[in-house]
Amino acid sequence: MGKRISFIFGTRPEAIKLAPVILALKNDARFAIDVCVTAQHRSMLDQVLEIFNIVPDTDLNIMKPNQSLAEITSNAIARIDGYLVNSKPDIVLVQGDTTTVLAAALASFYHKIPVGHVEAGLRTFNKYSPFPEEINRVMTTHVAELHFAPTELSKENLVREGIAESKIFVTGNTVIDALLIAKEKIAGNPPGIDGIPESFMSGKDPIVLITGHRRENFGGGFESMCNAILELSKKFLDHRFIYPVHLNPNVREPVFRLLGSSPNISLVEPLSYLPFVRLMLRTKLILTDSGGIQEEAPTFGIPVLVMRDTTERPEGVQSGTVKLVGTEQQSIVGTVSELLLNDDAYQAMASAANPYGDGKATKRIIHHLAEYLGNI
Ligand code: UD1
Ligand code: UDP
Repeated sequence: MGKRISFIFGTRPEAIKLAPVILALKNDARFAIDVCVTAQHRSMLDQVLEIFNIVPDTDLNIMKPNQSLAEITSNAIARIDGYLVNSKPDIVLVQGDTTTVLAAALASFYHKIPVGHVEAGLRTFNKYSPFPEEINRVMTTHVAELHFAPTELSKENLVREGIAESKIFVTGNTVIDALLIAKEKIAGNPPGIDGIPESFMSGKDPIVLITGHRRENFGGGFESMCNAILELSKKFLDHRFIYPVHLNPNVREPVFRLLGSSPNISLVEPLSYLPFVRLMLRTKLILTDSGGIQEEAPTFGIPVLVMRDTTERPEGVQSGTVKLVGTEQQSIVGTVSELLLNDDAYQAMASAANPYGDGKATKRIIHHLAEYLGNI
């Protein structure tokens, strides 16, 4: 039997970004793959698993409504511990910076099982933004044995924290691999988009796509972002504002209260990945606090305005595809208006290159993984 690799993940973005690696390793006779989900997210995770035809070998099903950080961490560590006692993998792979990632890294460490960290080295250097992700990823770094950094800059962050260069591999971000798989699936068979009429997709009205879910924006941040979107919807009546609303109750309450009755705002449920990618392809501008979308949108030449005060993805800002606008109402309204009214400003952002990868991150990760596993 080949070396045993366990993937442990729990949320939508981890599933999207690990799917290409799982699919590639499943067809590689050198390895035996085991997939364990904490299901920190339930339906949003299942949407992704279904699209990529991934059936978990173990499902810990920990999600509770409006769960606290301590609840996720303690439940996930205890349940992953039980999983590792039985599965005894040669290595555990985790992705990103959710609480599942930290819990899986710690539980693996307690069993002296090496951890490979995909998307290692992202930093804002602000422990409360994003919260709790900055500390989740810093702690995961110091537990991990292999670090798959998406860019040179993320590698430099790790080196500065004392990680040996021989353990860091710059691979690009697997989100681009996932996006290219999705784009190909869509081209053959365009999926319907729940809540959005087909006539609208084939029409010409410009679309502004919105997502948001960061804990540090709960409360005042979300109120102010929603007020900005409301003001923009009144100013740009010929535009459609489409917002797939995250299932976190702290997001849904202000979004439905403030944006629920505007004629050109469509609030829809979280979209499955293929419909979401199809919608991105038809979108003029994205307003988001999401990490993954900052990396994906530049591939399609869509400008992204990030409604946060910090970003761990400065490469996008430097290359010109991404702008940080914060959560303050007038800043959001001013920047969006400029881009929708001034074509030169818009084109400058839309034509910049994507710094996050070439769709070959999976291949590079597997190459380094094979080398490592061959030597243990
Ligand atoms: C989590 C991650 C965040 C990641 C984000 C991606 C943590 C602490 N947060 O944030 O890093 O960027 O996912 O979306 O790891 N819910 C459902 N069904 C679902 C998913 C969520 O009902 O499929 C609701 C539940 O009430 C749940 C709540 O949303 O308790 C919050 O989920 P949680 O995973 O704690 O945080 P997110 O805000 O989703
Ligand atoms: N996404 C999706 N459906 C949606 C919104 C986002 O499939 O309704 C995808 C998006 O393309 C990206 C990922 O989910 O790949 C980002 O997840 P999220 O914003 O929840 O988390 P983050 O990247 O901020 O951790």
